[in-house]
Amino acid sequence: MAILITGGCGYIGSHTCLELLSAGYDIVVVDNYYNSKPEALKRVKELSGKEFPFYECDIRDEEGMNAVFAKHKIDAVIHFAGLKAVGESVEKPMMYYDNNVNGTLVLWRAMKNNGCSRIIFSSSATVYGSENASPLKEDLPTGAVTNPYGRTKYVIEEILKDICVADKDASAVLLRYFNPVGAHASGRIGEDPNGIPNNLMPFLLQVAIGKREKLSVFGNDYDTHDGTGVRDYIHVVDLAKGHVKAVEYALSHTGATPINLGTGTGYSVLDMVTSFERITGVPVPHVIAPRRPGDIATCYSDPSKAKELLGWEAEKTLEDMCLDSWRWQSQNPKGYDE
Ligand code: NAD
Ligand code: UD1
Repeated sequence: MAILITGGCGYIGSHTCLELLSAGYDIVVVDNYYNSKPEALKRVKELSGKEFPFYECDIRDEEGMNAVFAKHKIDAVIHFAGLKAVGESVEKPMMYYDNNVNGTLVLWRAMKNNGCSRIIFSSSATVYGSENASPLKEDLPTGAVTNPYGRTKYVIEEILKDICVADKDASAVLLRYFNPVGAHASGRIGEDPNGIPNNLMPFLLQVAIGKREKLSVFGNDYDTHDGTGVRDYIHVVDLAKGHVKAVEYALSHTGATPINLGTGTGYSVLDMVTSFERITGVPVPHVIAPRRPGDIATCYSDPSKAKELLGWEAEKTLEDMCLDSWRWQSQNPKGYDE
């Protein structure tokens, strides 16, 4: 039995490869290195002490994907490969629809051609849009998204739901991630963003290490306990373990199943800054800046469905998130470029 991981060289993918290997799964990885480096999987091999096949291939290359499936008996696919920068998606919508939506269509065709009909898809809490109140439950309406990136996630969810109606063998677990942060406790793998980070934790870490002067806190007049935006930060290793459980679920169920992967707890931007400073002892200079367009005040999950269906819940604490992120950042100040 082998699990194919698309985008397995990226941030969440590399952590998931490690968890699958330690749970005893055979894995096959495909990535085109668009947003990752070979060093990540080299370190996964070091940490796990295991080898696995890797193919440098774009998921839109149908011939290439068919060749991978022809070579290995794949029982399920975890589909991480995708572009994820919200601002860039507004500038280049075609690039996002082609890579994310078309990429998923090509992948599904290659899967079906080769007798595989089980997929675990990386969706996002962004599909809940700005209209729903937290805690967010899976049966709330989705689709009121505000940017092309979010729309690709919504559209792919809908496509996979349609496929599961038409194809009774098909199984699609739609994992809606909240805000992944942190790194493996070894400090050997973590998030290695290109350019100026958009997300809070990578930016905060680059300020802490002295690469950037200060963090801008986007708005302190939201209707939250301290006026700054509240999110459900989830440790990437917890998230990776959720994928191992989702594989078990996909192998034993059919149909399309949306599932939140979050902790159920919201922290504000200032909670994150002050906790990081307290836990690591490293100061994070910050200033209050205007709101970022498109942001909402509060977004956190109701994680009960994941517990009920997958037997999974997040275990790591905010302290783990801060310490592990800092270990990764301080041991690898240039990311994977040593
Ligand atoms: P990442 O960019 O680190 O990983 C994605 C990987 O996919 C990269 O290694 C990239 O090179 C590869 N890739 C992209 N397009 C490809 C293609 N056409 N063919 C082959 N490989 C391709 O991102 P991540 O943070 O690990 O996110 C993984 C998935 O989870 C993405 O689909 C993302 O949209 C989704 N997601 C991420 C977050 C987050 O905050 N990180 C939140 C919600 C959802
Ligand atoms: C963002 C995306 C979302 C995507 C997710 C994961 C937007 C509007 N949303 O979510 O679609 O799925 O990333 O990639 O881009 N913040 C600061 N200063 C910073 C950076 C962030 O104050 O320099 C604040 C934000 O205003 C927000 C919180 O930190 O309140 C978290 O922001 P971020 O990490 O970008 O995640 P989201 O906005 O939740």
